[in-house]
Amino acid sequence: MTAPLSDKVFAGSVPQLYDQLMVPMIFAPYARDLAQRIKGHRPRDLLEIAAGTGAVTTVLAGELPDTTITATDLNEPMLAQAKTHLAGNANIRWQQADALSLPFGDASFDIVACQFGAMFFPDRVKGYAEARRVIRSGGRFFFNVWDRIEENDFADVMQQTMFQVFPSNPPQFMARTPHGYHDPERIRADLTAAGFRDIAIELVTHRSPAGSAQDAALAYCQGTPMRGEIEGRGQPGLEAATERVAEALAQRFGNGPIEGKIQALVISAA
Ligand SMILES: C[S@@+](CC[C@H](N)C(=O)[O-])C[C@H]1O[C@@H](n2cnc3c(N)ncnc32)[C@H](O)[C@@H]1O
Repeated sequence: MTAPLSDKVFAGSVPQLYDQLMVPMIFAPYARDLAQRIKGHRPRDLLEIAAGTGAVTTVLAGELPDTTITATDLNEPMLAQAKTHLAGNANIRWQQADALSLPFGDASFDIVACQFGAMFFPDRVKGYAEARRVIRSGGRFFFNVWDRIEENDFADVMQQTMFQVFPSNPPQFMARTPHGYHDPERIRADLTAAGFRDIAIELVTHRSPAGSAQDAALAYCQGTPMRGEIEGRGQPGLEAATERVAEALAQRFGNGPIEGKIQALVISAA
């Protein structure tokens, strides 16, 4: 599947909903995981790519008070949302940057981190080569990617519902992009082609909490680029499609607070 350009647009009302609903539901557990792996390396300078609204930045800033963190993202509105809760932190520098063309000199950072961003790179080898270029000798690249959508409960229910609501042309952003790059051999080959070695890939499973089926549906349908894709389909419209996802989630996981499985690959390379 070729990803349309809209897959990488996190703007409009998406950053705020993403920050409030998506981050605690599926990104916070992996942010803690990634920060723990990085902490022992005690980096002086750390670059975060595709930092979004600061899920990992927040944890890193707390765990590594002596590290200078350069937090970057392609979409300035995501960084603007991150700054609403991290602006006062003097250890964080914010900069808009495309992972495929990093505006930093060679060997500028001890660690490069990227949480759930690599799937969005139109050319992963190029993105990885850029990460490698800016890492100092002896440094490491830490990142993660989602496993198959079938291993991620809420996302899978949402995608199945899209097939029912829009049978002739279902929005497939979630399956195509966030859950579209999970083959360990392909990831290893891409990293090797970019010049990395000592590659470790680990499957990590967590539980994903949501306040309600409605919250989870709102997060997936309106707090991601899925929103634009659903709107582009016309009838029955964004609100009705979100409601159908909420009904499907409630039917499977119940009313009130719900919980589902999430699974990802966590990767590090030297
Ligand atoms: C799923 S979000 C992850 C954000 C954050 N790391 C987190 O854990 O919440 C993906 C992020 O990748 C960013 N992105 C997409 N393409 C990018 C690129 N070429 N370079 C840098 N960031 C990119 C998006 O703007 C978005 O913030």
